[in-house]
Amino acid sequence: AYAKRIIQKGDATNLITEKMLSDILEKNRTYCTKGIVADYIPELGKMDARAIAFSVVKPNGEVISVGDTQKKFTIQSISKIISLMVAVEEKGEKEIFDRMGYYGTDKPFNHYANLETQGKPLNPMMNAGAILTTALIDGEGDIPLQKILDMVRYITKDDTVTFSETVYMSEKETGHRNRGIFYLLKNNGLVEGEEDKLDNYFKQCSIEVTSEHLAKIGYFFANQCVRFDGDTKYKSSEMSKLIQSQMLIAGMYESSGEYARTVGLPSKSGVGGGIVVSVPGRIGIGTFSPSLDPQGNSVAGYHMILDLVNQLDLSLF
Ligand code: DON
Repeated sequence: AYAKRIIQKGDATNLITEKMLSDILEKNRTYCTKGIVADYIPELGKMDARAIAFSVVKPNGEVISVGDTQKKFTIQSISKIISLMVAVEEKGEKEIFDRMGYYGTDKPFNHYANLETQGKPLNPMMNAGAILTTALIDGEGDIPLQKILDMVRYITKDDTVTFSETVYMSEKETGHRNRGIFYLLKNNGLVEGEEDKLDNYFKQCSIEVTSEHLAKIGYFFANQCVRFDGDTKYKSSEMSKLIQSQMLIAGMYESSGEYARTVGLPSKSGVGGGIVVSVPGRIGIGTFSPSLDPQGNSVAGYHMILDLVNQLDLSLF
């Protein structure tokens, strides 16, 4: 039905213009003050709540961006889709998912109680699953982090992408709950090694990106892992199905169900204020606005996405 709708109406995403995006952005600017900038990691609390950006990569790979398009922010949990790809590329899906589930969730991103009851993480989008995923990538020291960074650089075609040392240090100093999760994973025999494995998770969360980078990541997973410029080095429909399905069921944590009802597209949020959306087979969307709702999802980002989705009838359903 999805394909039929596109064929009947033509792909409306070809019609996206800068004006369309800037109208939506201006309409939703007011939401910048409706949430709270994350400050549980002290460095994150320093973000300017008024910053806002909206980017799209169109079906032909063209990038359209409005707002604070050059403003950098940390990728945070959006890095979980990249680390999952790197780990599955290297180890195969079975080896990773023998150690964690494909479950959806009604729990916040840092929930870990099920490590006691079920013995393994619910899914790779929750912190427990993501910390484990990164710890399963081969290599001593920060080699796994370098692999994740290389993948972000490849997808965005931007070799300057790197992580923020100050956000990393702030995450590391205050990440007691994540440290606890790492030791529970160890206790359950799911991971071996020392805390440098956890440091790679803190570092991957501290990778700095722009809304344009996020739109390119969204495009990549929407289009069988083909890059926005057409490069097919990692082309794989299986990989994009895996990543998008996890985004759909758990990318917005406990809001994922409600979000699937309204937006209806695979999406991933981060507490840095970013959201990535993949419109399968079509476009990538990246938004940035650091004020978050209580579940840790960007308020203005959500509303910009919802408006574009409604205007162009982009929901899968
Ligand atoms: O693990 C943490 O606390 C963060 N560095 C990442 C969490 C995050 O982005 C959750 N998302 N909305």
